[in-house]
Amino acid sequence: VNIGIVIPAAGQGKRMGAGYNKQFLALRDKPILAHTIGLFEESDYVSEIVVVGAEGDIPTIEELVSFYDLKKVVKICIGGVLRQDSVRTGVRALSPTIQRIVVHDGARPLLTLPAFHKFLKETETNSAAIMGVPIKDTVKQVDSAGNVLETLPRDYLRAVQTPQIFDRGILEEAHERASASSYYGTDDASLLEWIGHPVHMVEGMQENIKVTTPEDLWLAERILTMREK
Ligand code: CTP
Ligand code: MG
Repeated sequence: VNIGIVIPAAGQGKRMGAGYNKQFLALRDKPILAHTIGLFEESDYVSEIVVVGAEGDIPTIEELVSFYDLKKVVKICIGGVLRQDSVRTGVRALSPTIQRIVVHDGARPLLTLPAFHKFLKETETNSAAIMGVPIKDTVKQVDSAGNVLETLPRDYLRAVQTPQIFDRGILEEAHERASASSYYGTDDASLLEWIGHPVHMVEGMQENIKVTTPEDLWLAERILTMREK
Protein backbone atom coordinates (compact mmCIF):
# COMPACT_ATOMS: atom_id res chain seq x y z
CA VAL A 1 0.00 0.00 0.00
CA ASN A 2 2.97 2.24 0.55
CA ILE A 3 5.49 1.00 -1.95
CA GLY A 4 8.00 3.29 -3.61
CA ILE A 5 9.22 2.53 -7.11
CA VAL A 6 12.66 3.39 -8.44
CA ILE A 7 12.94 3.25 -12.22
CA PRO A 8 16.51 3.37 -13.50
CA ALA A 9 16.27 4.88 -16.98
CA ALA A 10 19.63 6.61 -17.22
CA GLY A 11 21.35 4.25 -19.63
CA GLN A 12 22.55 5.11 -23.10
CA GLY A 13 21.01 2.22 -24.97
CA LYS A 14 24.26 1.43 -26.76
CA ARG A 15 23.25 -2.10 -27.75
CA MET A 16 20.02 -0.79 -29.28
CA GLY A 17 22.03 1.61 -31.38
CA ALA A 18 19.20 4.10 -31.85
CA GLY A 19 21.56 7.01 -31.27
CA TYR A 20 19.54 8.10 -28.25
CA ASN A 21 18.06 6.52 -25.11
CA LYS A 22 16.12 3.43 -26.29
CA GLN A 23 13.44 4.09 -23.67
CA PHE A 24 12.06 6.92 -25.80
CA LEU A 25 11.49 4.58 -28.76
CA ALA A 26 7.83 3.98 -29.50
CA LEU A 27 6.33 0.66 -28.58
CA ARG A 28 2.97 0.76 -30.31
CA ASP A 29 1.11 3.78 -29.05
CA LYS A 30 3.67 5.28 -26.69
CA PRO A 31 7.34 5.40 -25.65
CA ILE A 32 8.76 2.37 -23.84
CA LEU A 33 9.29 4.42 -20.68
CA ALA A 34 5.65 5.56 -20.66
CA HIS A 35 4.54 1.91 -20.67
CA THR A 36 6.88 1.12 -17.79
CA ILE A 37 5.91 4.05 -15.56
CA GLY A 38 2.24 3.69 -16.51
CA LEU A 39 2.03 0.22 -15.01
CA PHE A 40 3.03 1.44 -11.55
CA GLU A 41 0.84 4.52 -11.86
CA GLU A 42 -2.11 2.13 -12.10
CA SER A 43 -1.22 0.01 -9.08
CA ASP A 44 -3.02 0.82 -5.83
CA TYR A 45 -0.07 -0.55 -3.87
CA VAL A 46 2.26 2.12 -5.20
CA SER A 47 2.37 5.54 -3.61
CA GLU A 48 5.36 7.15 -5.28
CA ILE A 49 7.66 6.71 -8.24
CA VAL A 50 11.14 8.09 -8.78
CA VAL A 51 12.53 8.04 -12.31
CA VAL A 52 16.28 8.29 -12.83
CA GLY A 53 17.50 9.64 -16.14
CA ALA A 54 20.70 10.80 -17.80
CA GLU A 55 21.26 14.53 -17.38
CA GLY A 56 20.53 15.33 -21.01
CA ASP A 57 17.32 13.26 -20.95
CA ILE A 58 15.71 14.99 -17.97
CA PRO A 59 13.65 17.49 -20.01
CA THR A 60 12.34 14.68 -22.24
CA ILE A 61 11.39 12.58 -19.22
CA GLU A 62 9.67 15.58 -17.60
CA GLU A 63 7.69 16.10 -20.78
CA LEU A 64 6.76 12.42 -20.97
CA VAL A 65 5.61 12.36 -17.35
CA SER A 66 3.39 15.38 -17.85
CA PHE A 67 2.07 14.29 -21.25
CA TYR A 68 0.98 10.89 -19.95
CA ASP A 69 -0.25 12.44 -16.71
CA LEU A 70 1.86 10.20 -14.47
CA LYS A 71 0.88 11.73 -11.14
CA LYS A 72 2.78 9.39 -8.85
CA VAL A 73 6.16 10.48 -10.20
CA VAL A 74 7.45 12.59 -7.31
CA LYS A 75 10.97 13.10 -8.59
CA ILE A 76 13.11 12.78 -11.69
CA CYS A 77 16.77 12.51 -10.69
CA ILE A 78 20.02 12.54 -12.60
CA GLY A 79 21.58 9.09 -12.87
CA GLY A 80 25.17 7.93 -12.72
CA VAL A 81 27.63 6.20 -15.00
CA LEU A 82 26.58 2.74 -13.85
CA ARG A 83 23.08 1.41 -13.24
CA GLN A 84 23.99 0.89 -9.59
CA ASP A 85 24.77 4.60 -9.15
CA SER A 86 21.46 5.48 -10.78
CA VAL A 87 19.48 3.22 -8.45
CA ARG A 88 21.32 4.52 -5.38
CA THR A 89 20.39 8.09 -6.28
CA GLY A 90 16.78 7.09 -6.92
CA VAL A 91 16.45 5.33 -3.57
CA ARG A 92 17.70 8.41 -1.75
CA ALA A 93 15.05 10.53 -3.42
CA LEU A 94 12.08 8.55 -2.05
CA SER A 95 10.17 10.03 0.90
CA PRO A 96 11.27 8.85 4.35
CA THR A 97 7.83 7.26 4.88
CA ILE A 98 8.58 4.73 2.14
CA GLN A 99 10.00 1.58 3.73
CA ARG A 100 9.44 -0.93 0.95
CA ILE A 101 11.08 -0.36 -2.42
CA VAL A 102 10.66 -1.92 -5.83
CA VAL A 103 13.36 -1.37 -8.44
CA HIS A 104 12.25 -1.92 -12.03
CA ASP A 105 14.18 -1.27 -15.24
CA GLY A 106 12.76 1.46 -17.43
CA ALA A 107 13.55 -0.85 -20.34
CA ARG A 108 11.08 -3.56 -19.18
CA PRO A 109 7.75 -2.26 -20.46
CA LEU A 110 5.96 -5.62 -20.61
CA LEU A 111 5.43 -6.39 -16.95
CA THR A 112 1.69 -6.69 -16.29
CA LEU A 113 -0.33 -5.52 -13.31
CA PRO A 114 -1.48 -9.06 -12.37
CA ALA A 115 2.12 -10.31 -12.53
CA PHE A 116 3.32 -7.39 -10.41
CA HIS A 117 0.62 -7.93 -7.81
CA LYS A 118 1.30 -11.66 -7.73
CA PHE A 119 4.96 -10.83 -7.14
CA LEU A 120 4.05 -8.50 -4.25
CA LYS A 121 1.91 -11.18 -2.65
CA GLU A 122 4.51 -13.91 -3.04
CA THR A 123 7.27 -11.78 -1.55
CA GLU A 124 5.31 -10.19 1.31
CA THR A 125 7.42 -11.82 3.99
CA ASN A 126 10.81 -11.46 2.29
CA SER A 127 13.13 -8.57 3.05
CA ALA A 128 14.60 -9.04 -0.43
CA ALA A 129 13.11 -10.84 -3.40
CA ILE A 130 13.50 -10.95 -7.15
CA MET A 131 11.89 -12.37 -10.27
CA GLY A 132 13.62 -14.83 -12.52
CA VAL A 133 12.78 -17.32 -15.24
CA PRO A 134 14.21 -20.73 -16.09
CA ILE A 135 16.86 -20.55 -18.80
CA LYS A 136 15.86 -22.02 -22.14
CA ASP A 137 19.33 -22.47 -23.61
CA THR A 138 22.13 -24.67 -22.38
CA VAL A 139 24.66 -22.49 -20.58
CA LYS A 140 28.39 -23.13 -20.79
CA GLN A 141 31.32 -21.47 -19.11
CA VAL A 142 34.07 -20.46 -21.54
CA ASP A 143 37.56 -19.04 -21.14
CA SER A 144 38.88 -15.88 -22.78
CA ALA A 145 40.10 -17.90 -25.79
CA GLY A 146 36.60 -19.19 -26.42
CA ASN A 147 37.21 -22.73 -25.21
CA VAL A 148 34.42 -24.42 -23.31
CA LEU A 149 35.31 -25.13 -19.70
CA GLU A 150 32.08 -26.68 -18.51
CA THR A 151 28.32 -26.99 -18.93
CA LEU A 152 26.37 -25.56 -16.04
CA PRO A 153 23.46 -27.65 -14.71
CA ARG A 154 20.43 -25.72 -15.89
CA ASP A 155 17.87 -26.77 -13.30
CA TYR A 156 19.16 -24.30 -10.77
CA LEU A 157 19.91 -21.43 -13.12
CA ARG A 158 17.59 -18.45 -13.54
CA ALA A 159 17.67 -15.50 -15.89
CA VAL A 160 17.06 -12.58 -13.56
CA GLN A 161 14.60 -9.80 -14.25
CA THR A 162 13.14 -6.87 -12.43
CA PRO A 163 10.99 -6.07 -10.44
CA GLN A 164 13.18 -6.60 -7.41
CA ILE A 165 11.72 -5.74 -4.00
CA PHE A 166 13.55 -4.76 -0.82
CA ASP A 167 13.08 -3.43 2.67
CA ARG A 168 14.53 0.02 2.44
CA GLY A 169 17.07 -0.38 5.25
CA ILE A 170 18.81 -3.37 3.77
CA LEU A 171 18.80 -1.97 0.23
CA GLU A 172 20.39 1.27 1.41
CA GLU A 173 22.94 -0.56 3.50
CA ALA A 174 23.91 -2.80 0.59
CA HIS A 175 24.29 0.15 -1.78
CA GLU A 176 26.36 2.18 0.69
CA ARG A 177 28.69 -0.70 1.51
CA ALA A 178 29.08 -1.74 -2.12
CA SER A 179 29.91 1.73 -3.30
CA ALA A 180 32.35 2.26 -0.42
CA SER A 181 34.21 -0.88 -1.54
CA SER A 182 33.76 -0.22 -5.27
CA TYR A 183 31.82 -3.44 -5.65
CA TYR A 184 29.62 -3.33 -8.71
CA GLY A 185 26.78 -5.64 -9.62
CA THR A 186 24.51 -5.71 -12.66
CA ASP A 187 21.41 -5.84 -10.46
CA ASP A 188 20.53 -4.71 -6.95
CA ALA A 189 20.10 -8.17 -5.49
CA SER A 190 23.76 -8.94 -6.17
CA LEU A 191 24.73 -6.21 -3.71
CA LEU A 192 22.67 -7.90 -0.99
CA GLU A 193 24.23 -11.25 -1.87
CA TRP A 194 27.61 -9.59 -1.57
CA ILE A 195 26.88 -8.42 1.99
CA GLY A 196 25.51 -11.86 2.82
CA HIS A 197 21.81 -11.01 2.98
CA PRO A 198 19.37 -13.69 1.77
CA VAL A 199 17.52 -13.00 -1.46
CA HIS A 200 14.40 -14.95 -2.39
CA MET A 201 13.68 -15.90 -6.01
CA VAL A 202 10.18 -16.23 -7.42
CA GLU A 203 9.05 -17.26 -10.88
CA GLY A 204 8.89 -14.35 -13.29
CA MET A 205 7.28 -14.20 -16.73
CA GLN A 206 9.10 -14.94 -19.98
CA GLU A 207 7.31 -12.00 -21.56
CA ASN A 208 8.93 -9.54 -19.17
CA ILE A 209 11.89 -8.97 -21.49
CA LYS A 210 14.37 -6.13 -21.23
CA VAL A 211 14.36 -4.23 -24.49
CA THR A 212 18.07 -4.34 -25.20
CA THR A 213 18.80 -5.00 -28.90
CA PRO A 214 16.74 -4.10 -32.02
CA GLU A 215 15.02 -7.50 -32.27
CA ASP A 216 13.72 -7.06 -28.72
CA LEU A 217 11.63 -4.12 -29.88
CA TRP A 218 10.09 -6.28 -32.58
CA LEU A 219 9.45 -9.03 -30.03
CA ALA A 220 7.88 -6.55 -27.60
CA GLU A 221 5.48 -5.41 -30.32
CA ARG A 222 4.56 -9.02 -31.06
CA ILE A 223 3.92 -9.72 -27.38
CA LEU A 224 1.55 -6.76 -27.17
CA THR A 225 -0.27 -8.00 -30.27
CA MET A 226 -0.53 -11.47 -28.77
CA ARG A 227 -2.09 -10.00 -25.62
CA GLU A 228 -4.83 -8.32 -27.61
CA LYS A 229 -6.03 -11.60 -28.99
N1 CTP B 1 20.50 2.30 -16.46
C1 CTP B 1 20.60 3.41 -15.62
N2 CTP B 1 21.80 4.01 -15.41
C2 CTP B 1 22.90 3.55 -16.02
C3 CTP B 1 22.83 2.42 -16.88
C4 CTP B 1 21.61 1.81 -17.08
O1 CTP B 1 19.59 3.84 -15.04
N3 CTP B 1 24.06 4.19 -15.81
C5 CTP B 1 19.18 1.69 -16.72
C6 CTP B 1 18.81 1.63 -18.18
O2 CTP B 1 18.27 2.87 -18.61
C7 CTP B 1 17.84 0.47 -18.24
C8 CTP B 1 18.30 -0.44 -17.11
O3 CTP B 1 19.20 0.33 -16.30
O4 CTP B 1 16.50 0.82 -18.02
C9 CTP B 1 18.96 -1.68 -17.63
O5 CTP B 1 20.12 -1.34 -18.36
P1 CTP B 1 20.43 -1.71 -19.88
O6 CTP B 1 19.36 -2.58 -20.43
O7 CTP B 1 21.84 -2.14 -19.94
O8 CTP B 1 20.24 -0.30 -20.61
P2 CTP B 1 21.37 0.63 -21.22
O9 CTP B 1 22.50 0.71 -20.28
O10 CTP B 1 20.69 1.88 -21.63
O11 CTP B 1 21.76 -0.18 -22.54
P3 CTP B 1 23.25 -0.53 -23.05
O12 CTP B 1 23.88 -1.31 -21.92
O13 CTP B 1 23.02 -1.33 -24.28
O14 CTP B 1 23.93 0.79 -23.29
MG1 MG C 1 23.69 -1.04 -19.78
